[in-house]
Amino acid sequence: MTAPDLATERRDRRLLRRVLPYARPYWRFIALGVALVLVAAGAQVAGPYLVRIAIDDHIAVGDADGLFRILGFYVGLLTVGFLAAYGQAWVVNLFGQRVMRDIRRDVFSHIQRLHAGWFDRNPIGRVVTRATSDVDALNELLSSGVVMIITDVVLLGGIMTALLLMNWRLALVTFGAVPALFVAGWVFRRRIRPAFRRVREAVAAVNSFIQETLTGIEVLQLFRQQRRRAREYRVLNREHTGAHLDTVLCFSVFYPVVEMITAVTIAVIVGYGGGAIGSGALTVGALVAFLMYSEMFFRPIRDLTEKFNILQGALAASERIVELLSTEPGIRSPENPRLPARRDGSLTLNRVWFAYNDKDWVLEDIHLDVAPGEMVAVVGHTGAGKTTLAALLLRLYEVQRGSVLVDGLDVREWDLRTLRRQFSMVQQDVHLFSGSVLDNIRLGDPSISEADARRAAEEAEISAWAERLPHGLDTRLGERGAGLSQGQRQLVGIARAMARKSRILVLDEATSSVDTETERAVQTALGRVLRNRTSLVIAHRLSTIRGADRIVVLHHGRIREVGSHHELLARGDIYSRLYELQFEPEAALAVG
Ligand SMILES: Nc1ncnc2c1ncn2[C@@H]1O[C@H](COP(=O)(O)OP(=O)(O)O)[C@@H](O)[C@H]1O
Ligand SMILES: [Mg+2]
Repeated sequence: MTAPDLATERRDRRLLRRVLPYARPYWRFIALGVALVLVAAGAQVAGPYLVRIAIDDHIAVGDADGLFRILGFYVGLLTVGFLAAYGQAWVVNLFGQRVMRDIRRDVFSHIQRLHAGWFDRNPIGRVVTRATSDVDALNELLSSGVVMIITDVVLLGGIMTALLLMNWRLALVTFGAVPALFVAGWVFRRRIRPAFRRVREAVAAVNSFIQETLTGIEVLQLFRQQRRRAREYRVLNREHTGAHLDTVLCFSVFYPVVEMITAVTIAVIVGYGGGAIGSGALTVGALVAFLMYSEMFFRPIRDLTEKFNILQGALAASERIVELLSTEPGIRSPENPRLPARRDGSLTLNRVWFAYNDKDWVLEDIHLDVAPGEMVAVVGHTGAGKTTLAALLLRLYEVQRGSVLVDGLDVREWDLRTLRRQFSMVQQDVHLFSGSVLDNIRLGDPSISEADARRAAEEAEISAWAERLPHGLDTRLGERGAGLSQGQRQLVGIARAMARKSRILVLDEATSSVDTETERAVQTALGRVLRNRTSLVIAHRLSTIRGADRIVVLHHGRIREVGSHHELLARGDIYSRLYELQFEPEAALAVG
């Protein structure tokens, strides 16, 4: 065996160790399935033997009564075999579906535990494939695959025994074909493995391409990119076809080769057997039975080779699932989470350095203290790192250097759920789920009553426009909040934050798509909410943050200025330039 083969074997065993526990709770199904397999195989193997008895003991001597008895017995046997095969298919599929249900459940909850950074690296299309079609492929391995292999092995064993019992010389002649079959199978497997791998890769590429096209269909249509996109797709599609044809080629060579080996063996049996009949060493019935058996004998061998490949695909799929399940969430609660000594709502970033990728620092040496109840505004150009800073407070990402403290306790020491409960956050991109407006405000939080949610909707200026929706706040929204404008979605996000009584509020450009009038009304409501709460307000529009206790200017990932509105204006640096650009365009132009 070559080195890659050994590596493959090790991998396969590791996979099985990981996957088999899913089968364990349902071992009764397997046991029953195997028992039924034995019955069905037994019935199949007995068939030719009965034919032999019928020919030699009854037909040859003209015993019609005996022949009918045997025929009756044969029919009974076939019925039993049929029922057993039926029951086995049922039991095995029951087993497979249960196991898949469990695996899907675990994959889903595992995906939910993975942290934001993982999703930056793994395209959604691929993750969806893991959770759906890869699990289906795994089912093939666990249920039909394993059982079919058992069936075939049992059948082979039965047939070989029967052949040896009837005439061991002729049996050995028949077995002579086995090495040839194994060689053929071995060559076939070697060729088909890479072909199958190519197919899987092509399918994955086509899937992600379609997924991305659909997600960005509007952009593609607006920028009239359909033709370019179709051209790119044609390339992938061709590869998809080519890959499949590769496998077809393998099969189209393999099957005829097996057929030929079968034919040669049958010819040998007839030739050798014919001679044996002449010398009295073999009966006619035995020869017929032999021929029937040899037909049966090659089928499982051929099937095993073919199934082996289906199993290869299933193994690859399970490998991907196991890899997903073994991906440790990059961010998780510590073993022994601590609670802060005092819950005052203070926030501290202590010499924080952060990069999404290795050493491309997005935040450099950030030092910031937000006192309990204080309102701190963060301003800065697009890409300055404002959203990143907010994400670090909720430990969506892990800092590389320094520490982030909430209530004086390092976020890495908090239980994650408890930590995040301390915050109400309005993210820059508000994500809405399919469901009603109210559902989207409550998000299934039992501590928020419907009345709370309605009040929050009122305060976030939603009620005004929601009245015009067909069912008001109970109107069902489409996926991702389809049917609402960007600004309306932001308002739902604000209502979400308002409905929660968390002590720390983080607003990331929460009103950037809302008109000035609505913004002012929301500001007033937020002002009430903000009272006595610590808050971090990121804003592009400087009018939003004039009430802040302190303003932090973030520039290229560093804090460049800190102070009140008036102090910063007086400094005449970045903030004052931003301010002038927004409020005195003519003056700014004159100066610039
Ligand atoms: N998920 C991410 N992966 C890699 N880089 C990111 C990611 N999110 C943001 N960045 C980069 O980090 C920098 C700061 O982004 P961000 O904090 O969103 O800026 P702001 O909110 O101030 O506009 C940008 O240069 C951006 O390209
Ligand atoms: Mg941002």
